[in-house]
Amino acid sequence: MCGIVAYVGHHDAFPILIKGLQRLEYRGYDSAGVAMLSNGEINLYKKKGKVSDLLEFTKDKDVTGNIGIGHTRWATHGPPNDVNAHPHFSENKKLAIIHNGIIENYASLKAELIKRGHHFESETDTEVLIHLIEDIQEKTGKDLFEAVRIALGEVIGAYAIVILSKDDPHTLIAAKKSSPMVIGIGEDDFYIASDATPIIEYTKNVVYLEDEEIARIDLKDGLKLKTIKNEKIEPYIQELELQLEAIEKGGYDHFMLKEIYEQPRSVQDCMRGRLNIRKGTVALGGIKDYENKILNANRIIIVACGTSWHAGLVGEYLFEDLARIPVEVEYASEFRYRNPIINENDVVIAISQSGETADTIAALELAKSKGATILGVCNVVGSTISRITDAGVYTHAGPEIGVASTKAFTAQVTVLCLMALRLGHLKGVINESDFHRLLIELSSVPEKIENVLENAEYIKEVSAKYKDVSNFLYLGRGYNFPVALEGALKLKEISYIHAEGYPAAEMKHGPIALIDEDMPVIVIATKKGNYEKVVSNIQEVKARNGKVIAIVTKGDETVKKMADYVIEIPEIVEPWSPLLTVIPLQLVSYYIAVMRGCNVDQPRNLAKSVTVE
Ligand code: M6R
Repeated sequence: MCGIVAYVGHHDAFPILIKGLQRLEYRGYDSAGVAMLSNGEINLYKKKGKVSDLLEFTKDKDVTGNIGIGHTRWATHGPPNDVNAHPHFSENKKLAIIHNGIIENYASLKAELIKRGHHFESETDTEVLIHLIEDIQEKTGKDLFEAVRIALGEVIGAYAIVILSKDDPHTLIAAKKSSPMVIGIGEDDFYIASDATPIIEYTKNVVYLEDEEIARIDLKDGLKLKTIKNEKIEPYIQELELQLEAIEKGGYDHFMLKEIYEQPRSVQDCMRGRLNIRKGTVALGGIKDYENKILNANRIIIVACGTSWHAGLVGEYLFEDLARIPVEVEYASEFRYRNPIINENDVVIAISQSGETADTIAALELAKSKGATILGVCNVVGSTISRITDAGVYTHAGPEIGVASTKAFTAQVTVLCLMALRLGHLKGVINESDFHRLLIELSSVPEKIENVLENAEYIKEVSAKYKDVSNFLYLGRGYNFPVALEGALKLKEISYIHAEGYPAAEMKHGPIALIDEDMPVIVIATKKGNYEKVVSNIQEVKARNGKVIAIVTKGDETVKKMADYVIEIPEIVEPWSPLLTVIPLQLVSYYIAVMRGCNVDQPRNLAKSVTVE
């Protein structure tokens, strides 16, 4: 939530900041702002709305300067408006700050500062922090770095901050705790951002700041790091593997569509080097040393949020069915607060695209404190979850920019398929011939996703029929029950149509009352896996004049006769079927959202990475 970007060097800061903010806009788009230092003055501009609104606003303004900070906001404290937008000034306006995170004790700090004569313009916690820093500077006579260090010792909460000082045209101070921050080291300049996307085209050398580290980024002295406890740290410079093309739209109208179409490749990338048909093996290097631990675990607990939680539910079916290991799937936000019973014989797996979701991180930390082994399934390399877990498996889906998760879901499910297959084989639950059959079927998934995508025009036509409805129901059973939930979430979040996912058999326990001629029902009715029972569920919907769009296995004639529309997917073994059945559902939500004129990549009220609880 919130994107931060900063630059110090010899180039104009403004275009670098704007481009960076556009790349980070997926993290929040309630407001945007920048501050540049030029001729001893901080020029600060901020505007409610998108980066494009800020650009318009700054058209005739002085945007010169070789040092600056920029922010794109997802509102927490105070509504989205010009005043609450970042950057924020300190009392004497000599300091400006951008912040991603939440200062939890801001109210008591603010009350104290007001008593000391400070005035606040905004309702944000961020403005309190910069006033606190200035107050400490004035009280103690310490330099800015020291004042920031002392102030951060007083705050409770999460932050990634960058501070610009009127008195120092060559230096930025940055710090982080529980919110991500990466520093790019150019030839003779520095870049700071919430993730590497604003940095990639300038340099590949980066330092990921760790929690409670403070950086002094100085054009002359270079990068110096300390902890809040005043210990010196040597920066660890890493090389970025990210490619620029991966974060551009590449000719597609939206990132979401590009990411849907990337799935044959992203699923393939996820299996690369792990699944070997010739040798007949599945290898997951990241968790190799933990395989025995998992096999002997009391149970696996999967913690996640949103789409990643749906992937976790598919994981439950996979691990229990193929490896006979008991699994519980928990919303991270519930798990962390309900005093769960966990011990050292449990293995807790966090699933997260971003690796930065606050609730998922907190759930992991809780599990760790109780002695459980903690593993991660993450997409973003170097993310917090990938660093705090004992071990894990990267999904290798590449950057996902669209707020609606698509290729991250299929990559997460692919990792879980590989894990279940490997563990089931090791445990002897899956015999050799089934193992080889499952291996071959899994390797065929990318091509089969391609086949589903070839049907996109037809899926668009079907979507057009229902673009104006107010409600949708999604039904699935077994492995495809989580896919029904995922389909409903996709539609809600980008088209703002109310949608619910249900296990098909549960319909008669309540939701059937909703069915009438205005209620489209998407039913996942692929062969195997309770097929006959799902067919009965379709008849129940038709008997009440509901409209049925069925996702069926290619060649299915039975459902074709009953449903209003059928969308075919290639034949596949049931455990791998979610990797195919979800694709038409992603496309349906995409097309409906576009036809309704919605902002597909940046749906209202949402942000890509939910770093607050
Ligand atoms: O980065 P994460 O996978 O931890 O994010 C979890 C959810 O916030 C995320 O999946 C969200 O539900 C998506 N917008 C759904 O499309």
